[in-house]
Amino acid sequence: MKIISFMAIKGGVGKTTMAFQLAKYAQKKGNKVLLIDLDSQKSLTDTFVKEHMNFSDVKSIVDLLNNPNVGLIQTNVEQGIDIIPSNNTLDLITDVLITKANKELLLFMWFVKNTIKLNELYDYIIIDLPPAWNLLTKNGVAVSDLIVSPMEPSRFGYDSHQKVLDSI
Ligand SMILES: Nc1ncnc2c1ncn2[C@@H]1O[C@H](COP(=O)(O)OP(=O)(O)OP(=O)(O)O)[C@@H](O)[C@H]1O
Ligand SMILES: [Mg+2]
Repeated sequence: MKIISFMAIKGGVGKTTMAFQLAKYAQKKGNKVLLIDLDSQKSLTDTFVKEHMNFSDVKSIVDLLNNPNVGLIQTNVEQGIDIIPSNNTLDLITDVLITKANKELLLFMWFVKNTIKLNELYDYIIIDLPPAWNLLTKNGVAVSDLIVSPMEPSRFGYDSHQKVLDSI
């Protein structure tokens, strides 16, 4: 199992698009994929949620961050693709998390508790991150084997890419 995150401290550079495309490519190659949407914009989640699916009762990344003991909470969206979706309250919980110990390692703690099962279930875990160096991004970075940072070919694109390297 490999954990791959898409990170940029700049909006609209293609993080979610690349996370989506990598998931579909891995699926095509017969791999099992878990997507984790750590962005409150929830674009990746909405890409996979079909109209007939009722996501109101589904557990989300908010439940996981609130309680890393929650266990496996993924939802199947396609053959070979599961997701731990984002939800609109994700930004609000960062205010709550700020007081917690090890607040940058909540996702890491969840991974540690579920490593054996995750290794059995998935070939790739793909994480979509928000365009900021915040608590959510730090939680994603802390568990990643590989971080992919798309970069806009411009001066500001280069500057923000440099910020990514400095932050890590
Ligand atoms: N390789 C690409 N070439 C051209 N356009 C692209 C490419 N990748 C993504 N786009 C387009 O760029 C826009 C932003 O893409 P996307 O939502 O993936 O960026 P993002 O980095 O996830 O943004 P945000 O920071 O807001 O989450 C979309 O309209 C998408 O279709
Ligand atoms: Mg995005």
